[in-house]
Amino acid sequence: MKLTVDDVRSRFVEHFDGTTGSVYASPGRINLIGEHTDYNGGFVFPGAVTQGVIAEIKPNGTRKVRAYSIDLKDYVEFSLDDEKGPSATHFRFIFGVCREMMKLGVPVEGFNTAFAGDVPLGAGMSSSAALESTYAFALNDLFADNKIDKFTLAKVGQATEHNYIGCNCGIMDQFASVFGKAGSLMRLDCRSLEFKYFPFDPKGYKLVLLNSQVKHDLASSAYNDRRKSCENVVAAMKKHWPNVDSLRDATYDMLDEVRPEVSEEDALRAKYVIGEKYRVLEVCVALEEGDYEEVGKKMYETHYGLSKEYEVSCPELDFLNDVAHSCGVTGSRIMGGGFGGCTINLVSDDLYANFIETAKKAYKEKFGKEPIVIDVVIGDGSRKLC
Ligand code: GLA
Repeated sequence: MKLTVDDVRSRFVEHFDGTTGSVYASPGRINLIGEHTDYNGGFVFPGAVTQGVIAEIKPNGTRKVRAYSIDLKDYVEFSLDDEKGPSATHFRFIFGVCREMMKLGVPVEGFNTAFAGDVPLGAGMSSSAALESTYAFALNDLFADNKIDKFTLAKVGQATEHNYIGCNCGIMDQFASVFGKAGSLMRLDCRSLEFKYFPFDPKGYKLVLLNSQVKHDLASSAYNDRRKSCENVVAAMKKHWPNVDSLRDATYDMLDEVRPEVSEEDALRAKYVIGEKYRVLEVCVALEEGDYEEVGKKMYETHYGLSKEYEVSCPELDFLNDVAHSCGVTGSRIMGGGFGGCTINLVSDDLYANFIETAKKAYKEKFGKEPIVIDVVIGDGSRKLC
């Protein structure tokens, strides 16, 4: 069931003093291709989804934020002037956004808020970015006359992850959540921050996610470790080529040259990232030519790289990828940070029903539960609903 304004408003009214505030929403995201490239200065190809977070907010004339999570039935009060903030992660996102907006000089005041979301948690669809973007967008509207530009709002969300959650993520998720546009994917150059909307309506194909129901934990050190591996290789390359600032500047030949100076593991991680850089560009050409079979081929290559080189897969995701392949699905791969979450599948209309049925059955036989099927609809980015 789709989350609505009324679901949130009724709880806000009930939980606080009976009055209403303003309501804001921000989406989760998918990513067609370009995984673990954002923090390497590369390209990503995300789009917002129609699932997201909705929050009602009303200034309360104090320095306190009173926040109610409708989904978790959890309530907290924290002071905007507190350095430490609440300990529960779902509230730390809000605290972090407030503090980061204050760092930008926004005169944030206390507020009452209730929020809910319908992005599956830990599924690699960026439920956390949806939450951060909702509050960054809302605080900009309520306390800064919308003077803060959208990229800065996305960076507020990213800084929240870095400074309050402990995940050194890139900019993709928050960018996609803030900038999303119904019907379009976006190609973002994470180095220059230039981006372009690509209307995405693959006639004869569907995009569908299969949620493995294995919850990832991005804050777990594995994500940060991957980032560190990339930085190690860049540091080694810099000694030979001082202009290299990120793996975006690297080639396979350069990697071969520094191989003796880096660990085997770091080299393998960098190999994936360099390959992914080329794949995103090849997918752009294929999309412009309407060649979805080529797009799909690249998706499988990405899965292989994420699984065998970047090593962010798990048996469940590899299994779902194999099922897709054996059903003739055009493209399939892990989506998002990995270690669980969803596969994203590009499947032709005529194979869709059989694929879903086969995947459910085979997965249940092997892992004792069915994957959750999520048909992708590309939706809008952060916005005020009322
Ligand atoms: C997570 C991070 C993003 C990005 C992806 C992998 O979603 O938040 O910044 O690195 O993983 O592409």
